[in-house]
Amino acid sequence: MTDRMLDRERAAVESALARLLPVDAWPERLHRAMAHAVFAGGKRIRPILARLASRAAGSDPDVITEAACGLEFIHTYSLIHDDLPAFDDDVLRRGKPTVHVAFDEATAILAGDALLTEGLLVLARYPCGPDWAARRAEAVALVAEAVSARGMVGGQMEDVEATGQVESREEDPKLRLERIHRAKTGCLLAASVELGAVLAGVSDDVRRKFADFGAGLGLAFQIGDDILDATASAQDLGKSPGKDAEAGKLTYATLYGLDTARRRLADLEEQLIGEAAEIEGPDGDLAAIARFVARRRS
Ligand code: IPE
Ligand code: IPE
Ligand code: MG
Ligand code: MG
Ligand code: MG
Repeated sequence: MTDRMLDRERAAVESALARLLPVDAWPERLHRAMAHAVFAGGKRIRPILARLASRAAGSDPDVITEAACGLEFIHTYSLIHDDLPAFDDDVLRRGKPTVHVAFDEATAILAGDALLTEGLLVLARYPCGPDWAARRAEAVALVAEAVSARGMVGGQMEDVEATGQVESREEDPKLRLERIHRAKTGCLLAASVELGAVLAGVSDDVRRKFADFGAGLGLAFQIGDDILDATASAQDLGKSPGKDAEAGKLTYATLYGLDTARRRLADLEEQLIGEAAEIEGPDGDLAAIARFVARRRS
């Protein structure tokens, strides 16, 4: 996938997001806060993954763009809550002040709640029409499960519990770390890939291949995030770097060190490219997005 293709993917997602999210509805303050978080230059990886997976499954990605935007609303909710003082206490996100800084904490909590609901609503509604009813129902269940207490929210719970405990638990911290990353970040990324496949109507066997690829991609994504927190600039990231070490977070960079974290990421990249080839043949879009995720600088 070239940069131009990635830009085209992003443009398709941006215009659907703008169509779907009401910005001047009642109550105005809440909708302004939601728009502040959503329209701030996110990479849009999750909806793009759903579109690429749909194409790899032989379907037209434009049919599922609205549904894919549901993933972005839900992801944005998770960022707003992740940045709250009770969690990572961050002041910068997507190059702008976080929602609790630009508005206030109560508004940020409600904007997160509202975006989670909006995301599930979009998935329940799109693609429109009775022919899609069964696949829509499957899609809502898939994404809701991924962000549930057994998925993303569970991972955030354990991330909070593990903070300040990099070395100090009986359980092997490496197993614990991988479990946290697969849950807090991997589950939604895996569901994004799987969503494209499910809406394309693939068989259960094929669906499992997409899900496994997505889960590995999700782990790779968070290892990259940990490395970037330790190495990148606020300018590149649009968020404050160096927060993980400062907060005593259990991450690939703090537990393994940067060299080992980078090696693990490179190994995962190779594994993902192999898995992508099994799904789409050699050098397809899924391989390209795996490379992008493993080598990203922001
Ligand atoms: C950041 O996600 C939070 C993680 C799950 C690591 P992204 O890096 O996808 O953030 P945006 O959407 O581009 O802002
Ligand atoms: C966030 O992980 C995971 C979720 C939002 C679910 P991080 O706390 O590492 O994400 P950043 O670095 O703040 O984007
Ligand atoms: Mg966090
Ligand atoms: Mg954070
Ligand atoms: Mg991080």
